[in-house]
Amino acid sequence: MLVRIDRISEHVGQEIKIGGWLYNKRSSGKIQFLQLRDGTGFVQGVLVKNQVEPEVWETAKQLTQESSLYVWGVVRADERAPSGYELDVTKVEIIQLAEEYPIQKKEHGVDFLMDHRHLWIRSPRQRAILKIRAEIIRAIQDHLNQQGFTLVDPPILTPSACEGTTNLFHTKYFDEDAYLTQSGQLYMEAAAMALNRVYSFGPTFRAEKSKTRRHLIEFWMIEPEMAFVDHEGNLEIQEQLVAHIVDHVLNHCQAELKTLGRDLSALEKVKAPFPRITYDEAVELLHREGFSDFQWGDDFGAPHETKIAESFDRPVFITHYPTEVKAFYMKPDPNRPEVVLCADLIAPEGYGEIIGGSQRIDDPELLAERFEVHRLPKEAYAWYLDLRKYGSVPHSGFGLGLERTVAWICGLEHVRETIPFPRMLNRLYP
Ligand code: 4AD
Repeated sequence: MLVRIDRISEHVGQEIKIGGWLYNKRSSGKIQFLQLRDGTGFVQGVLVKNQVEPEVWETAKQLTQESSLYVWGVVRADERAPSGYELDVTKVEIIQLAEEYPIQKKEHGVDFLMDHRHLWIRSPRQRAILKIRAEIIRAIQDHLNQQGFTLVDPPILTPSACEGTTNLFHTKYFDEDAYLTQSGQLYMEAAAMALNRVYSFGPTFRAEKSKTRRHLIEFWMIEPEMAFVDHEGNLEIQEQLVAHIVDHVLNHCQAELKTLGRDLSALEKVKAPFPRITYDEAVELLHREGFSDFQWGDDFGAPHETKIAESFDRPVFITHYPTEVKAFYMKPDPNRPEVVLCADLIAPEGYGEIIGGSQRIDDPELLAERFEVHRLPKEAYAWYLDLRKYGSVPHSGFGLGLERTVAWICGLEHVRETIPFPRMLNRLYP
């Protein structure tokens, strides 16, 4: 019977069979140590020369890095082993002897690693990140399902923009023009009027010409949308969700966080409620902190977000941005229409914005005006305006960027490691 390495603790004292790959090999003349991985974990196999059949010893000696193999052995608990167990190997069968593996145990340049992304994801660090990414998705879905949200899938091919026209990804749809979705939000607003609390989870696309640590061309977003929820209610739903994600990862991914060397004390502080500051207060803070030429009405860049985040030990909401820098659908503050009822959630430790959200305009006339101001073609948005004509209600929603959230929780410098096969400016391979 084939046993997975993550279940090895159930087989102490028994002889088991593992299917896996050789991650690394050490030898001290009379002993060979095989670092084995099977995707579920790592375990060390030990061969002592005068205790195994000569052909088993010779087979093990031939093994090259990343050769695929079956290994038989007896499981032994060993406190010194990183996984707590070792395997006293009795038999080795090579499935395929790997060619010389391109990724060696030395420093490789980023371009080289990105060109070999299909192999790089086998390494312990990359594996840990992908595991945490999967757990974050699970935490989000569990939480939203538990809170009464229904999953709804918006289209990928769309006739019009949601987040401005500058970074639209154009394609042909037979004889028509179409765009890859930038955000499912507009469709989720329709769905919220049908199902009350909804969320989407899927890929979104932005032809961003900027090369930064935080931008991907293809990234995944979770977009909840809620009927009868106002700006304040929106923030509460967001902080509960983010606190739950962090809590879930701390409870389920200790080994992976350790592999990444993540500072856990920073994550342990992430408890709701999160602090809220207005855009105005954020501008004042920047002026005090040396960004004296920042003008009211400018949008924050990465250095501004980092400076603002430094004042807080948990994620911080920046609310009430100037109407003119934000999207057409955001509801102006009735007491101060030059700002909108929106918030960006800025992660601590310099990881930047992870959520953008707002209360939406529910008045059909005001929405029609905003189309004019933003020079959006009315016809393309007629269906969206309908939502305000047939039983309009106050409603709000937000988009959580999965890759930026993974980068923050894993403590990564760059979003390129947070997604299995990143799509970036100048990177479509592999
Ligand atoms: O602030 P954004 O543009 O908001 C929207 O798209 C809204 N329609 C969402 C909604 O209200 N339903 O994007 C939301 C989040 C950002 O906070 C960021 O985390 C992520 O999506 N994001 C990106 N992540 C990686 N690469 C990019 N190019 C990103 N652009 C946005």
